Amino acid sequence: MSEPIKRDIRNPILFECAWEVANKVGGIYTVIKTKVPVTVSEFGDRYCLIGPLSYKTAPMEVEAEEPSDPDLAASLDAMRAKGVKCLYGRWLIEGAPHVLLFDTGSQYSRLDEWKGDLWNLAGIPTPPNDHETNETVVFGYLVAWFLGEYVARQLHTAVIAHFHEWQAGLAIPLCRKRHIDVTTVFTTHATLLGRYLCAGSVDFYNNLQYFDVDHEAGKRGIYHRYCIERSSAHCADVFTTVSHITAYESEHLLKRKPDGVLPNGLNVVKFQAMHEFQNLHQTAKQKIHDFIRGHFYGHYDFDLDNTLYMFTAGRYEYRNKGVDMFIESLARLNYRLQKANSKMTVVAFIIMPAATSSYTIEALKGQAVTKQLRDTVTEIQNRIGMRLFEHAMRSNGEHGIMPTPDDFLSEEDKVLLKRRIFALKRNSLPPITTHNMVDDANDPILNQIRRVQLFNHSHDRVKIIFHPDFLNSNNPILGLDYEEFVRGCHLGVFPSYYEPWGYTPAECTVMGIPSITTNLSGFGCFMQDLIERPEDEGCYIIDRRMQSVEDSVNSLTTCMFQFCNKTKRQRINQRNRVERLSPLLDWKNLGMEYSKARQLALRRAYPDAFYGNDEEEFDFGAGIDRMMPSVPPSPRFRMSGMATPGDIGTLTEEMERLKTSDYRGFNWPSQQEDEEEGYPF
Ligand code: UDP
Ligand code: G6P
Ligand code: GLC
Repeated sequence: MSEPIKRDIRNPILFECAWEVANKVGGIYTVIKTKVPVTVSEFGDRYCLIGPLSYKTAPMEVEAEEPSDPDLAASLDAMRAKGVKCLYGRWLIEGAPHVLLFDTGSQYSRLDEWKGDLWNLAGIPTPPNDHETNETVVFGYLVAWFLGEYVARQLHTAVIAHFHEWQAGLAIPLCRKRHIDVTTVFTTHATLLGRYLCAGSVDFYNNLQYFDVDHEAGKRGIYHRYCIERSSAHCADVFTTVSHITAYESEHLLKRKPDGVLPNGLNVVKFQAMHEFQNLHQTAKQKIHDFIRGHFYGHYDFDLDNTLYMFTAGRYEYRNKGVDMFIESLARLNYRLQKANSKMTVVAFIIMPAATSSYTIEALKGQAVTKQLRDTVTEIQNRIGMRLFEHAMRSNGEHGIMPTPDDFLSEEDKVLLKRRIFALKRNSLPPITTHNMVDDANDPILNQIRRVQLFNHSHDRVKIIFHPDFLNSNNPILGLDYEEFVRGCHLGVFPSYYEPWGYTPAECTVMGIPSITTNLSGFGCFMQDLIERPEDEGCYIIDRRMQSVEDSVNSLTTCMFQFCNKTKRQRINQRNRVERLSPLLDWKNLGMEYSKARQLALRRAYPDAFYGNDEEEFDFGAGIDRMMPSVPPSPRFRMSGMATPGDIGTLTEEMERLKTSDYRGFNWPSQQEDEEEGYPF
């Protein structure tokens, strides 16, 4: 037998692969994009991201470039010779990392061949008409192909391949089965079953241990996807997730206990002075005010100085994101504000993309009549200015010739102004949605709003606006980028039921905007773990775990009601306090967890390099000193119990035996014994 290749593990090469590389869908895009600066500072040119090539977005996101690594160039040439289309270049974001995007469309001719191979290799079935799975198969085979080509040429340096989520994970079992000499990390940002089960009406958290996973996946038509996810988790050298709550869920639903938890960070930009971000709030709020004036024309009978902007945002997952609870609590808040004769008005925004056909005429008209009125007032103002100037110039310097207002507002101006004011007359109430919904009658958000009858009446102290699209400064309505919008609001409300992390409240925190989340979100639990009384810092966490739904709704209502009773000064102070929590969420600190996962992966794949003769030479810093002995990544099938196809190469049992996993176990009422176990990072 030939000697195995010795790869240098000191300066490894890192490929990080995700479906959301240069392709925005939800929070995984945020993870990848915001983490780039710290990863680039650790790996420099040895770092390359891999994602799918979308011809719609790539030209805006990526600048094409020739690879400087000859092995990488040769690998891509070899693939191109077989018809693979790809784009290599720099992703135009902070850190400007190398990026490699594969055009899955260029290899659909091989789809059936690869599906057959997947079945033979891992026993994973793939039905014909699931587009997302087809994409996953082609993308996974392309990535594994590339990694195989690359490590066959580049023989001197260790290669780490880090994969996010099941859509990118399929390459992991392929790497393992083909014995491709890379070490793999798989990070899951949710479990498929968790998302599906929670979206239904299941008591998820009290039954996690008892679900018959294969049966549940089959019932929901996602068995094949589940198999891909599970095999990614089992075949990876290191398996991680984003929070303890999802680690606990993964243990039960994917049947592998994660080796570590990698909390999501953000690229925190510190301002020179505190007042700078407060000023940004004020400026952005003025822009929201402009939108509100237009949207409520004809019913603009509330005082913007006493108006608070609350919002929720994210992908449209009605129950998982807690929109049901948000709307119910808003109805109760409305009642409490009315009963208390409060002078405050709350405008609650729901920003969640849904299928729409266009903006509504009413929403466009509101902005148009407001603009016309503003333009007319500006014209009249200019004319008054001219007349005033003329009048003053004609005087001979004596007292007593001051003009009266009537001298300046001409009859023509008055008529024009009247016409504009008449245009503000409206027979209908200000609309709830800004867009025409494709399925208005069955939309869960609209139906819930109808049920609680929050219709933007004058007497309502809580008004609702549903914007069924992500925000963009180029939009004709609510033309702000998401970040600017968040800055202009007063409170983010994210009462999630299923939320592995939840970037939206984290983003509020670093922008100095208070938020409400729950103890079922990874972010909420993270803050609760770190801060004694997070609510004092403007980081409110509603209990959705230990109390009934009714009690949770009441807690949320009370929390929002108390927020409405704060003075302006208290709100300003609270924004300062929230903003001070930013370092807790900074990749500069949290990026360390990723480094530890990569180190563990290297140790597992190349134990000899760590424990061999020259072990003493390496100093991996403080980050890994809590790690346990490595486990050789030997592929093997689960022999006992009910194995799901894809459970090849599981490390779970070895890890249990050697106690090599990191995550502490989730502090669950019936699962206290988990807490006893220790984890390396
Ligand atoms: N987001 C956005 N535009 C919007 C609303 C939300 O870009 O109008 C982003 C938001 O900044 C966040 C992501 O969508 O980074 C949602 O991530 P989260 O982790 O909260 O949820 P996910 O969608 O991944 O479940
Ligand atoms: C910031 C600005 C202040 C402004 C305040 C409004 O702090 O720097 O000038 O008065 O925002 O706060 P509010 O909570 O009423 O939007
Ligand atoms: C997933 C989760 C979300 C998390 C994001 C990034 O999409 O739904 O909670 O914040 O991934 O990890």
